[in-house]
Parts: sequence; C-alpha cells; structure tokens
Amino acid sequence: MLEVTDVPALKSWLRSTRADGRRIGFVPTMGFLHEGHLALVDEARRRADAVVMSVFVNPLQFGPAEDLDRYPRDLEGDVAVAHLEGVDLVFAPPVEEMYPDGPPRTGVHVEGLGDGLCGAGRPGHFDGVATVVAKLFALVGPATAYFGRKDAQQLAVVRRLTADLCLPVEIVGCPLVREEDGLALSSRNRNLAPAERAAATVLYRALRTGAELVEGGERDAGRVRRVVANVATTEALVRLEYVEVVDSTSLEPVEVLAPGEGTGVRGVPEGNEVLMAVAARVGGVRLIDNVTLRVDATGVGVDLGVMVAPTTPGARGVPEGTGEAVCAAG
Ligand code: PAJ
Repeated sequence: MLEVTDVPALKSWLRSTRADGRRIGFVPTMGFLHEGHLALVDEARRRADAVVMSVFVNPLQFGPAEDLDRYPRDLEGDVAVAHLEGVDLVFAPPVEEMYPDGPPRTGVHVEGLGDGLCGAGRPGHFDGVATVVAKLFALVGPATAYFGRKDAQQLAVVRRLTADLCLPVEIVGCPLVREEDGLALSSRNRNLAPAERAAATVLYRALRTGAELVEGGERDAGRVRRVVANVATTEALVRLEYVEVVDSTSLEPVEVLAPGEGTGVRGVPEGNEVLMAVAARVGGVRLIDNVTLRVDATGVGVDLGVMVAPTTPGARGVPEGTGEAVCAAG
C-alpha cells in the first residue's frame, strides 16, 4: 500500500493504475478509522479493482466554534489499518495541498438539502462537505465512491451534487454500523467521557422505540417524533438537538408514514425511504444517529443498521453473524 500526501504523487499512481485497466473505488474519510469506515472499504474492495482512501480533516466543513482542533487524529494508525484492510492508496494531504491559495473562492452549494436537520445547527457545513467531495472526486476520478448511511443528510447531498453536476461516479450508500450496545460508531465517540459514552446509547434506544411504534402500526410521524424525543431526553447528560422524520432523498418532513402525496398531508412518495434522524450534544460532543424506514403499500420495513462486536481495527475478524456490512448501490 502506498501513502501519498501530494497531488502529483496521487496523479502519477492513478495514471499507472488506470493504464492497467483497474477501476477505482474511493472512500473519503476524515480519519481516526473505525468499523464504520472499514465497512466502506470492504464494499469498495468487493466492487472495485483498486481502493483509494482519503484521510483529510476538512476545515471548510467546520464552523468557527466547532471542534476542528479537537477532532481526533491518528494518521499513522490509520495508515496501518488501511494497509491491513487492503486499501491500495491512502491520500492524506495537508490543508495547504488541498487549499493552496487559502479557502477556495469556488464552492458547491446544494440548495435546500443542507439547510435543515444538521445544517440548521451547523450553517455552511454541507457547503464545506459538498465542496471537498467534489474536489476529491475531481482529483481521484473514481468509478464508485462509498458513503455511510450514518451521515444520511451528507449522503443525500452527495447524491444530489453528483447528479446535478453529472459527475461520472456511482455513489454507493452503505449501512450504518453500530457498537454492540447500539451506539453509532463515530470518530467523535473518542471524546466522550465514560458516563457520557453510556448515556449516549439512549439515542439508539429512542430510535428503536420509534421504529417499534411504526412497526406496531403507528403512522403519525408527529407522534413518533414525540415518543423518540421523550425517550432521548430521559438521560440528563444528553441535550437533544432535533428529532426529524423526513424523506431520505428530498429531506422534506413526512407527516404520515404511508405512501402517497397530494392528500393534504405529506406522505411518502412511491419507492422512497424515510429517515428518522436525531442529533444531540453529549458533553462537548455532537452526535447524530438515524434509522431508515421503507414504506410501501404492504407495510413498513425498518433498517436499524448493523452491529459489530468491538475488535481491534485491522485485526478485526468480524465474528460470524455480527454484521459484516452489506452495502446497497445507488
Ligand atoms: P467521516 O466522518 O470520517 O466519515 C467518512 C465516511 O464514513 C462517511 O461516508 C461516513 O458516513 C462513514 N461513516 C462514519 N461512521 C459510520 C458508521 N457508524 N456507519 C457507517 N458509516 C459510517 O463524513 C466525513 O468523514 C466527511 O464529511 C467527508 C465525507 C470525508 C468529507 O470531508
């Protein structure tokens, strides 16, 4: 495996890889790798001939009062893990390599999709994400790129920017990966104190309660949101930011968990998925989580994500039946 930090070295490797006729799968990350990232690598290895991972903590997507300086980093560890996982090239540029003239004057703004949910509390965040993702796509030129459903709003933004700009890359959405107790894996979990880490599992319990309600026949999204919020606020250390029930493509609120539009209330357009999404602050850490609901005429299917047993990344050997993630294309 090769680690490169500058664009000419990246380009030179890409040239020879393409000359061999190998299709590139791309996994963009901000590093401090965990099983959620590695599930993306697994899927990229299954689908592509060569896997490129970027490790870049993108300052553009952090607000002035956010945790850019506290964002956990361990490039050496990440490179070792990536190597063991079968990544072919890690691109880990310094900020000056990505933004040599300071913050770029050209940005990507995906109208509407970045404003609600996490965008409301993080103005400009999704512009920063969309801009760096477009730039990374231009640098790497992948055939496929892999994104986790953990960041469902990000996935919707990336899908839309790819379609709107006709970028020649297939976006592959991959399942949300959780720890054994349900906490969604996140590099930021490292910044939780033990009591906060324990309290944070309430987000999963809240979402699961909401999902069970829907499975039991509840179709009023407002009632589901209230129940999820009630559970999520039972932990004093958890300050809930939002609970939303939205269409996973348009991110528009859904009022009734049933197919159909135009009946005066907002149902779910044919074939679409619904996201039940939460965000909360636990200590100084902002956490997000979601479950996907598939609503059609025959009922509701719930996707809570997959669980992995805690293992050392790289040496992981995911135990049988504990959720080697399988990704869905498109
Ligand atoms: P980062 O938070 O490092 O996440 C990189 C990728 O890993 C994203 O696609 C994210 O959705 C996925 N991921 C993280 N935790 C996951 C989990 N528990 N289950 C499944 N997938 C998970 O997202 C970013 O970096 C950045 O915004 C980036 C896209 C790299 C642009 O800077």
